[in-house]
Amino acid sequence: MAAPLPPRTTDWWRDAVIYQVYPRSFADGDGDGTGDLAGVRARLPYLAELGVDAVWFTPWYASPMVDGGYDVADYRAVDPAFGTLEEAEKLIAEAAELGIRVIVDIVPNHVSDQHPWFRAALAAGPGSPERARFHFRPGRGTHGELPPNDWPSQFAGSTWTRVPDGEWYLHLFTPEQPDLNWAHPDVRREHEEILRFWFARGVAGVRIDSAALLTKDPELPDFVEGHDPHPYIDLDEIHDIYRSWRAIADEYGGVFVGEVWLPDPERFARYLRPDELHTAFNFSFLTCPWEPDRLRRAIDDTLAEHAPVGAPATWVLCNHDVTRTVTRYGREDTGFDFAAKRFGIPADLALGTRRARAAALLTLALPGSVYLYQGEELGLPEADIPLDRIQDPMHFRSGGTDPGRDGCRVPLPWEAEAPAYGFGGAAPWLPQPADWAGYAVDRQRADPDSMLSLYREALRLRRGEPGFGDGSLTWLPAPAGVLSLARTDGLVCVVNLSDAPADLPPYDRLLLTSDPLDAEGRLPRDTAVWLRATHD
Ligand code: GLC
Repeated sequence: MAAPLPPRTTDWWRDAVIYQVYPRSFADGDGDGTGDLAGVRARLPYLAELGVDAVWFTPWYASPMVDGGYDVADYRAVDPAFGTLEEAEKLIAEAAELGIRVIVDIVPNHVSDQHPWFRAALAAGPGSPERARFHFRPGRGTHGELPPNDWPSQFAGSTWTRVPDGEWYLHLFTPEQPDLNWAHPDVRREHEEILRFWFARGVAGVRIDSAALLTKDPELPDFVEGHDPHPYIDLDEIHDIYRSWRAIADEYGGVFVGEVWLPDPERFARYLRPDELHTAFNFSFLTCPWEPDRLRRAIDDTLAEHAPVGAPATWVLCNHDVTRTVTRYGREDTGFDFAAKRFGIPADLALGTRRARAAALLTLALPGSVYLYQGEELGLPEADIPLDRIQDPMHFRSGGTDPGRDGCRVPLPWEAEAPAYGFGGAAPWLPQPADWAGYAVDRQRADPDSMLSLYREALRLRRGEPGFGDGSLTWLPAPAGVLSLARTDGLVCVVNLSDAPADLPPYDRLLLTSDPLDAEGRLPRDTAVWLRATHD
């Protein structure tokens, strides 16, 4: 077992490397084909060896799993497929012994239709106090046969479902995920208690799902393109909720990371004011194509929008909702857009992998915290899931045009020669591609040139170099298509996104390269390097 990591500063979250675990697909301890907490506990030494500071778990609560656990039936219970609450407590404690903090995922916008509140609401009928915790409305049309408004779902299709007594209820996602009414005091009280419940169990942080969607215009008006404010995205009232949450987090020393998809940087930054969320995911970086000017602008804009509120940036290349990085970077269009997802988009995986390696060094050199999605450190590509095995509602609700998100959720390969690549058991809940042996942890561990070895080395160096942490960056002069940035302590990161090899600035030491330099000591295309610059 790896030695405990040295303690970090109090503001550990300002420059942490946070590893996202999708529990269903990380490691299967009981061999039933679904990953679980026993599997995670057994693999904690792997995470310690990788050198991450914290782990964010996507929801592990009791859930019918219509949306991979983002349909929560009981926030205070662990789903039996994953284990028990007691095991979660053990996991939190064991991780802490290894110097790893735990972040849980809270889903405040909606619950599962199996949640006791929603079941009670259905049973109680129109006009009942039970229904007031959700958004129930009569329909439009002569007989109430039309939905109360025209809001489109985040998952395509309608946001309204009619129940047998004739009323309709709102769900921004699937019908199995009814939206809560955040104007209702019970909803606020319940979530404040849920936060306390998990903070009291030793979690260091909370990821807030769909964080900008909670509050709705009480009139539930039709959506009018361009109308400001939007009827349910980013309403001003939402900040009051996060201010009350922040006070709770402060009592426990906990931190928040919000899932805030907002195009307007000023509106985004409002969530990060000192009495609100500590951090939020940087989706402008995640969706940015592999193009030098766009990347540089995304980095500059990110730092500029965070600076006035004093919050650190986060850097994310992928997560459980988006196309895996090596596949995205191997395509002609290297950006990410939910609306553009299709089957059969060709990808050059060798090129994508080369770029993902360079992007890893770029990302880890930037000021702020970094999120790493399980399997990213293995360079896993997006998997093609046979049509009859797809489970993601996004696929079905798109009418079958969107492949959905299962391709980035395939169970991890741990051992090249074992059944199911050592995930545990024989038949994982999603099929693993037949050609994944080379991605397995045991193979990569033994190969100094593997993606895993690159990540381990980068994380080890980053941890030992305070200059890579929180702070500012300075762009250095560089040829067209080359990004060259300096941090403190002479640390420099150069990334070559041009077509030609690039000369490096003068340096004392080469710390790490994503791929070897050429024979003339130049940086080849789609390669990044960390240097210690020569002192003037
Ligand atoms: C977030 C989650 C996603 C989920 C959705 C609804 O976007 O990341 O996986 O489907 O919220 O909860």
